[in-house]
Amino acid sequence: MHPLRKLIQNEDLLSHLAQTYGTPIYVYDLGRITENLNRLETTLSSHFNRHHICYAVKANSNPHLLTEMRKILPNIGGDCSSPGELFVTEKAGIDPTRCIYTGNYESTYDLKIALEKGAYLNLDDISSFKRLLMVGLPDRISFRLNPGFGKGTFSQITTAGENAKFGIPAEKIIDAYRKAQDAGIKQFGLQCMAGSGNLDEGYFVELLRAIVLNTKKIENELSIRFEFISMGGGLGIPYKDEETPLNYDRLFRQLSKVLYDGYADQESAPALWVEPGKLIIGDAGFILTQVTGLKASYKNFIGIDAGMETLMRPALYGAYHRIYKVGYSGSNNGTYDFTGPICENTDRIAVDRPFPPIAEDDLIVIMDAGAYGYAMSHNFNTRPRAAEVLLDGDTHRLIRRRETIEDIFSGCDV
Ligand SMILES: Cc1ncc(COP(=O)(O)O)c(C=O)c1O
Repeated sequence: MHPLRKLIQNEDLLSHLAQTYGTPIYVYDLGRITENLNRLETTLSSHFNRHHICYAVKANSNPHLLTEMRKILPNIGGDCSSPGELFVTEKAGIDPTRCIYTGNYESTYDLKIALEKGAYLNLDDISSFKRLLMVGLPDRISFRLNPGFGKGTFSQITTAGENAKFGIPAEKIIDAYRKAQDAGIKQFGLQCMAGSGNLDEGYFVELLRAIVLNTKKIENELSIRFEFISMGGGLGIPYKDEETPLNYDRLFRQLSKVLYDGYADQESAPALWVEPGKLIIGDAGFILTQVTGLKASYKNFIGIDAGMETLMRPALYGAYHRIYKVGYSGSNNGTYDFTGPICENTDRIAVDRPFPPIAEDDLIVIMDAGAYGYAMSHNFNTRPRAAEVLLDGDTHRLIRRRETIEDIFSGCDV
């Protein structure tokens, strides 16, 4: 059962939210965010001497959500990939020196900002290091390893292996550290984010083994010590009923064994860093949307006011999101495509989805939209972006107002 199933069965509350804030809206449950963060923190502390959580700001950068995360875990850092993500992280009171900055094909401007803020720079290539030296020399550096394999829910979110634009191949990475060492850097980390949305524990074990082989090799050849190994994000959540959530305790127990078998001296072993996005915010957010029109064509369509401009993942990757009719738990009576108002035939939130009887104005929820939902939403067709609301028990507050058409043109001086 979905962790928010009970909440979304509360028809009175959801109708009240729709009346108060309009639709479509992103709704986040603070209780679930708290559970997700605490569970991860507790498990990591019980299996590792030293660890650090850098929340992946790209998954959802609402500053109010970041502030709540900092209140729950005061030591939290951010995984940032742009000056904008560093900006909002700092606004939320998260110390940039606790953040990792992972760009790719970074401009010297990006590198300068990350360096000035004091984030732990994690470079995607040796060529990035050359550009970095044009703006300054940090005290510490990390490089992103491409271990030659990766895994993600979709090929588009597999971020290592031969087809990936990310990371430095294993056979070249030693040169990167050598160049950094020659330049005078003495503190080192290594990062490897090889794919997103993984529910397979064995994959993470295999990945950490490959990382540790590399860190040991680099340490031996260059006589350096790694302060941390970051496995990036990639910890998946179930998007479908039949998927099983990760067993945190079993997973991190296995990972600690891999790390501490590789480093016999536990005290000097690198700290384990993780950069979770989906795992923290994915299942804590949903979209509340309203049926605008029903159409029986060659297929049956349910038109809703949240299309691909509001939730991009289905159009972008064919991602699956559970959809429920608010206040209804009976049986299905047909098969429908869910689509929005966008002039693109890829504007589908779901395809061939069995669904119960439905009418115009009914309220619908699209689940697991907390990560890469609002963050990937856009203005195509000049549609203003949705509002965002935070639920804390029975109370709720607007954490981003709905965009207006005027907002869209605010840079055009009209
Ligand atoms: C460098 C880096 N870290 C962390 C993440 C977060 O991944 P996830 O949401 O799968 O945890 C990403 C996602 O693309 C990433 O690129």
